[in-house]
Amino acid sequence: MKVLLVLSAILASTLALSDRPCSNNITNLWLDVVAVVDNSIGMSSDGLNSVAADLISVFSSSRIGSDPNEPRTTRVALVTYNVNATLKADLNKYQSNNDFLNGIFSDLKVGSSEESFLANGLALAEQLFFVKESSSSSRSHYQKVIIVYASAFEGIDSLSPLPVAQRLRTDGVTIITVGYNQDGDGVLKGLQEIATRSYNFTNTDGALIPKVQNALMQANCFCMNEWEQYRDSYADLFSPRHGVCLQLISLPAIWKAAQMSCRNRFKKAYLANEYDQKKHDFIFEKVKNTTGFNYPYSYHIGLNYVNGAWMWDQPENHQMIENTDFSYWIPGYPKAASQMSAVQNSQNSLATAWQNVAMYTVSSNYVCEVASCDTSNYCTPSGLIGL
Ligand SMILES: *[C@@H]1O[C@H](CO)[C@@H](O)[C@H](O)[C@H]1NC(C)=O
Ligand SMILES: *[C@@H]1O[C@H](CO)[C@@H](O)[C@H](O)[C@H]1NC(C)=O
Ligand SMILES: *[C@@H]1O[C@H](CO)[C@@H](O)[C@H](O)[C@H]1NC(C)=O
Ligand SMILES: *[C@@H]1O[C@H](CO)[C@@H](O)[C@H](O)[C@H]1NC(C)=O
Repeated sequence: MKVLLVLSAILASTLALSDRPCSNNITNLWLDVVAVVDNSIGMSSDGLNSVAADLISVFSSSRIGSDPNEPRTTRVALVTYNVNATLKADLNKYQSNNDFLNGIFSDLKVGSSEESFLANGLALAEQLFFVKESSSSSRSHYQKVIIVYASAFEGIDSLSPLPVAQRLRTDGVTIITVGYNQDGDGVLKGLQEIATRSYNFTNTDGALIPKVQNALMQANCFCMNEWEQYRDSYADLFSPRHGVCLQLISLPAIWKAAQMSCRNRFKKAYLANEYDQKKHDFIFEKVKNTTGFNYPYSYHIGLNYVNGAWMWDQPENHQMIENTDFSYWIPGYPKAASQMSAVQNSQNSLATAWQNVAMYTVSSNYVCEVASCDTSNYCTPSGLIGL
């Protein structure tokens, strides 16, 4: 009896459908990174040696450089700063893990100044990303990350690092900070204003290397232009991300045409699923905030009736997935499925919920979905590769 109960619990938990998480295989990281390292006298030679060891450890399993045969590579540039900033390595200097190992150790030396102006270091990183790199480069869709190692936090007025950090984040750059050898809390408070939320660390943190690696893999998990990443909270742009992207289309179409249109918009895209309440709510929040979706709302989702079961749409040539534990039908639905085998969300007096409709005659707006670009999925601007 006990065994049976346990078995049925396991079965129930495997039946619950869930959205794809961001993948996290550090080997396949594909990013462009600028390490911005404080080399003022306060960092000390020992400090810089341990920064070098840290950086090498963080990227030791990833492919450094660029490779015409493997797009999932990470370029790392190095900028040091004290009173001024110096470019030690541009994005193309280190072309292998070996180059990187040797280069980082020889390029990280203590400078001649006590002063430490992060603003100058960040401004040079900004130049590397947005001036030196052409916006039409073959890597322009690679996500950009800055890792700051700093022992001090100085600079007011024109030397304040806040405006340039703000600008970088607005331009989509992820900023990770590591407070190093810092004398007092002021440094950490300052860095916390610079970092992308929750990516502010210190060298005394346990597990600094996996924390930085996780931040890098989250940064690598993203959606292409016009797609919005599914995340824990619609209102909170920085809430944890899932490995799924959504696009709302406000051009009414019958279900079959909507499915086709999703597939043509981006390689491996399909009509969106609503595996649970959270996903339904996220999509509905976005619907309410999208021009062309109007009261009373109605929009197709990926649910449809095939061979006797309600199934969720999947990428072309993948088996559809049967809807199991969660359902969100309007009371009285589903109606006889043989006549009405497509599903849309429809607003009735109580809620916006599932309603089955005729597949070939009812035109509505619709929601497309695709797996995110991440360490297992390399994307080009026109589609997802891998899966
Ligand atoms: C990570 O990716 C590498 C290279 O593609 C592969 O060999 C390895 O098996 C993957 N690791 C995991 C845990 O999937
Ligand atoms: C820092 O840069 C300023 C202006 O760009 C220059 O005048 C100054 O000499 C530089 N300082 C050092 C120590 O290189
Ligand atoms: C990072 O910033 C948060 C506030 O955003 C703060 O609570 C936390 O203590 C900071 N962590 C470090 C290591 O400075
Ligand atoms: C709602 O839409 C507006 C206009 O497109 C946008 O600026 C805003 O960020 C959206 N809200 C959220 C939470 O994404």
